[in-house]
Amino acid sequence: MTNHKVAVLVGSLRKDSLNRKLALALQTLAPPLITLEIINIGVLPIYNQDFDDAATPPHEITVFRQAILKFDAVLFITPEYNRSVPAVLKNALDVGSRPWGKNVWDGKPGAVVSMTVGSTGAVGANHHLRQSLVAINVPCMPQPEAYINNAMDIFDAHGDFVREVDRDFFRNFMTAFAVWVNTNTAAKRALIPA
Ligand code: FNR
Repeated sequence: MTNHKVAVLVGSLRKDSLNRKLALALQTLAPPLITLEIINIGVLPIYNQDFDDAATPPHEITVFRQAILKFDAVLFITPEYNRSVPAVLKNALDVGSRPWGKNVWDGKPGAVVSMTVGSTGAVGANHHLRQSLVAINVPCMPQPEAYINNAMDIFDAHGDFVREVDRDFFRNFMTAFAVWVNTNTAAKRALIPA
């Protein structure tokens, strides 16, 4: 069976980011059907349409777009900033979506995990992100949803899950995501000629 390459975008640049720890933990829980690679979105300049109108995007943007094209799917792991998606992550979506007609996200299956030290599970960020995924044609896994609250207690000093129940939840989540990715990419291969 084909192994699918998954780009992981983390919505926090903080060195001790809990969301980044989660991305690292999920790499170890992913079933063999998918391989996760974390992409650094912190190097991207803020999107300015003038770059594309003049066909002179900054080097980092060109490298990012070419990199995303090589992936089969995308996993978003994000905190919530002021009830929405952190700017660094929204910027990455915007950068990849242009120039018009060259949206690098187009058709790549995706999923969203939101995680916060707060009590709401960052549901605002999660659903604002899902709204943008409609625009860039990323079919987003509906279930299981993953809204993780009180995240300050979730990892030990080594970045491992403290509780077995969390490890089980994410093992199941990654299995469902692998099925989602495989189903969507197989259907696309079967129905849409390369
Ligand atoms: C936050 N935080 C936050 N949390 C939340 O649940 N809802 C929110 O609206 C916000 N807003 C917010 C704005 C800004 C500017 C910051 C810096 C933080 C708290 C945030 O979720 C918490 O710091 C997470 O731990 C950040 O994720 P990382 O960096 O640990 O991955």
